[in-house]
Amino acid sequence: MIIAIDGPAASGKGTLARRIASHFHLAHLDTGSLYRAVARDIRRHGGSLEDASEAAEMARRLDAETLSDPGLRDPGVGDAASIVAKFPEVREALHEFQRDFALQKSGAVLDGRDIGSVVLPDAHVKIFVVADVEVRARRRYSELLTRGEPVTFEGVLQSIKGRDDRDMNRSTSPMKPAADAHLLDTTKLDIEAAFDAAVRLITRKIGQQGCP
Ligand code: CDP
Repeated sequence: MIIAIDGPAASGKGTLARRIASHFHLAHLDTGSLYRAVARDIRRHGGSLEDASEAAEMARRLDAETLSDPGLRDPGVGDAASIVAKFPEVREALHEFQRDFALQKSGAVLDGRDIGSVVLPDAHVKIFVVADVEVRARRRYSELLTRGEPVTFEGVLQSIKGRDDRDMNRSTSPMKPAADAHLLDTTKLDIEAAFDAAVRLITRKIGQQGCP
């Protein structure tokens, strides 16, 4: 079984994807970590995030072993990721890795922005997670405060709005729900309620399709 979970920053899709993967015994890939890692590697080499060919080269050379680096969640890395993510060459370089991951025997859950629409249009279940921007900013603000990061709510809100704008308006693979995606609004749901709703949806869909 292959499940695609997409949605904007701090919508809850990452936590949801991890919980669903564990519940259904599927492998999980946070595809945002790929774009974050490309941005990290460019910065390490003192390069420019706006240089498409350098970004593509970093994407081609990406070491999958480094995707669990906690530094990928540092403030600012998400913004940097959304800059390199607009380049078609970067997306192309990361495409095969994501498809291969999805096609492994155990089945998989991938979360990102364009999984249901572009990377895995044939996924068995597609969920697009949304939530009000202020609620998303509040969640990300709490997460960063817990990590001891010196952030302000206003700064986090502006960063998320900027990222939404870049992710929705880029010309290659803009963030948007696939035509056959189920919308899940988590504005008023805690993680437990969102998880329950997603499991119900997946179970119903698998029952209809009869897929493994
Ligand atoms: O966790 P959060 O939602 O804040 O971000 P993320 O999923 O780690 O993604 C970071 C950035 O990578 C996004 O703002 C997108 O610009 C980009 N991204 C993308 O373009 N396509 C994906 N499938 C995943 C992430």
